[in-house]
Amino acid sequence: MEEVQKKRILSGIQPSGDLTLGSYLGAIKNWSALADEYDCYYMLADMHTITVRQVPADLRRRTLTQLAAYIACGLDPEKNVLFIQSHVPAHAQLGWVLDCYTMFGELSRMTQFKDKSAKNADNINAGLFTYPALMAADILLYQADLVPVGEDQKQHVEICRDIANRFNGIYGEVFKMPEPYIPKMGARVMSLTSPENKMSKSDKDQNGCVYLLEKPEDIMRKFKKAVTDSEACVRFAPQEKPGVSNLMQIYAVCTGKGIAEIEREFDGRGYGDFKMAVGEAVVETLRPIREETERILADKAYLEGVYRAGAEHASYVANKTLRKVYKKVGFVER
Ligand code: TRP
Repeated sequence: MEEVQKKRILSGIQPSGDLTLGSYLGAIKNWSALADEYDCYYMLADMHTITVRQVPADLRRRTLTQLAAYIACGLDPEKNVLFIQSHVPAHAQLGWVLDCYTMFGELSRMTQFKDKSAKNADNINAGLFTYPALMAADILLYQADLVPVGEDQKQHVEICRDIANRFNGIYGEVFKMPEPYIPKMGARVMSLTSPENKMSKSDKDQNGCVYLLEKPEDIMRKFKKAVTDSEACVRFAPQEKPGVSNLMQIYAVCTGKGIAEIEREFDGRGYGDFKMAVGEAVVETLRPIREETERILADKAYLEGVYRAGAEHASYVANKTLRKVYKKVGFVER
């Protein structure tokens, strides 16, 4: 018996760097609960990652580590389809077709292309330029209803909708129109050293960013160095006291305590104590994730089983859409 169709979510994550505490508390932590309500597909977007030059061994290691980490963070492969983009050839295949329905002018307006080509002036390759068409293929292949993305990717979901509209306008309703989905806000975690900026793996100051799989002693060192202010009072005031407020927020999410409770807990105590407590709370939050990630990574057969099953499931869905598209544009059926 078929249940009522759940809405489908698809999201892609580039294995271009190590996962951070910010991405965990802000996003990943909340994903496992989505599986009850939605039909969820998560893809490691390794094909997107090579638009910027990569060290092959690092890309391979990060792809597998991230897959293991997602599972360790609670994304159950029995309830979510977890796969690696390059394992599903339909992405490249539909990507090419959509390249032919995407305009040079609209790609030129993408802010991420402008930013990335400024940062990689010696490697402004065609893939970097047509990347939004590949991302549109990622989404449209699965007839996704919702695409969870951060602010920086909204423009790419917009162009995906434009491409889908254009295609549907010519050939009829081939693609479902996806919507960007801004998930219920997780915590917005700021850099420990420049708390006016979001915690980011591309932050030049490595002390500002805590990684998901970092060793406890390194985490503690970063929290001890975290920027505060001269008031010496643990009080929540994001504008006036961005450093302390950020630490309070991190402590709140890791311990489940409320802001007022935290203010009382540290009333009359110095920042030294407070920073240690936040560091320890983070260490304890991340410990099981790190241990579980390591355990999964060591179990090669299991991990292989997960990505193979994911690729098989994803291919089945993706190929259905691809066949329809091939037929519509006039390719001869094999
Ligand atoms: N472009 C996204 C990023 O850089 C990753 C991505 C690739 C993606 N394909 C996707 C996100 C499809 C959502 C849907 O973060």
